[in-house]
Amino acid sequence: MKVVIIGSGYVGLVSGTCFAEFGAQVTCIDTDKQKIDLLNNGKIPIYEPGLEELVRSNLDNGKLNFTNEYGEIVGESDLVFIAVGTPSRRGDGHADLSYVFQAAKDIASHLKGYTVVVNKSTVPVGTARNVKRIIEAENPNANFDVASNPEFLREGAAISDFMRPDRVVIGGESEQALGVLKELYRPLNLIETPIILTDLESAELIKYASNAFLATKISFINEMSMLCEAVGADVHAVSKGMGLDGRIGKKFLHVSPGYGGSCFPKDTKALVRIAQESGVTSRIVESVVEVNEAQKARMFKKISLALDDELSGKVISVLGLTFKPDTDDMRDAPSISIIPKLIEQGAKIRAHDPHGMEEAKKVLSENIDFYENLYDIFKGSDAVLILTEWNEYRGLDLDEIKKMMNTNVFIDLRNIYEPVLMKEKGYNYFCIGRPTL
Ligand code: UDX
Repeated sequence: MKVVIIGSGYVGLVSGTCFAEFGAQVTCIDTDKQKIDLLNNGKIPIYEPGLEELVRSNLDNGKLNFTNEYGEIVGESDLVFIAVGTPSRRGDGHADLSYVFQAAKDIASHLKGYTVVVNKSTVPVGTARNVKRIIEAENPNANFDVASNPEFLREGAAISDFMRPDRVVIGGESEQALGVLKELYRPLNLIETPIILTDLESAELIKYASNAFLATKISFINEMSMLCEAVGADVHAVSKGMGLDGRIGKKFLHVSPGYGGSCFPKDTKALVRIAQESGVTSRIVESVVEVNEAQKARMFKKISLALDDELSGKVISVLGLTFKPDTDDMRDAPSISIIPKLIEQGAKIRAHDPHGMEEAKKVLSENIDFYENLYDIFKGSDAVLILTEWNEYRGLDLDEIKKMMNTNVFIDLRNIYEPVLMKEKGYNYFCIGRPTL
């Protein structure tokens, strides 16, 4: 099968590489020449475990190609995936579809023979039909169908999510298009992956509904953590006790300084807009967004209180800047909303992140001292602040760190450590939703 992927960002690159691994002949097209040159040299522009090796092996065996020209390849392909970005439009939270529509226009004139044009980008309900209209207007003779095939990839675990998905969702209107997509995903039959065949609108909504539901679980447990703090309960016990109920499930019930990343913040806001524009309100998702913002604000207060509301001149050693571990992605990371407020109040910020410092430097203030060597960050520090739960931070030498610090304040916004242990080690330990000892 011949597959073209438009857009070599996170989703396009992972999908293209994994389709090549399935045995398809894949060409990834991106307008960014620098990125294409990098990829053709077997290097990837993002940090994603396992991806670079897979890109290289498929480049070497000729299954994967990168180019910045549409050329003949689109016409020769069975499937063309649109995997360009759909960022939040500034001001109204609506998904910005300009890249998707531009890709549809660019594809149109190159189509030859029957082709399935597939939306992989996360797009509002109705976008596949709009893509169809654009292609028909640009090239009335084109022989094609549109389909929707949303992705459910977690950053940091994208390869295994693609290779061993819980389900594959395919939306379309013609048997022929659904058949071509089913054939592409045939290697997953071996592991009995459920394939959901549905209409275009349902496929588009499944993606938003899934992300909004997961975000709801997170905001729910974050809200419970506030209640735990007020009544003296332990949020870990609460989430365990809830999660063991098979109807609830234990995943996504881990407290945090708020969800971030490239999907949840953008998709929850977009879902609220989609509902409004369709004449219905989405009160639950609206609240999920509000609770998430409140959680980030609450974290700032927690840090400030831990330092007796005197941040001026305090040296804070921040561990973790990315929105979660195993990625260098800084999009909507809690660090972006928390750190500038600390600096505003006069705190001196030192920061470390195993893979995210380069990206962090692009989005965070210049008034931050970045440390390559983790243990250098603690010398003379007034507080340790964990923002991202990288594995590197799970087994810290607590005795050594305490000797290096000015004080014993340890703020753990990912609840990595046990309050009892921290007390034994002599720390004044602050975490989320657990009784203070
Ligand atoms: C998510 C979805 O999981 C994926 O299916 C979708 O396609 C893209 O968005 P991703 O953003 O990569 O993936 O990361 P995920 O592991 O889902 O975490 C998202 C955010 O939620 C992170 O900020 C994480 O810290 C937070 N989170 C996650 C919690 O706060 N608590 C949890 O229990 C789980």
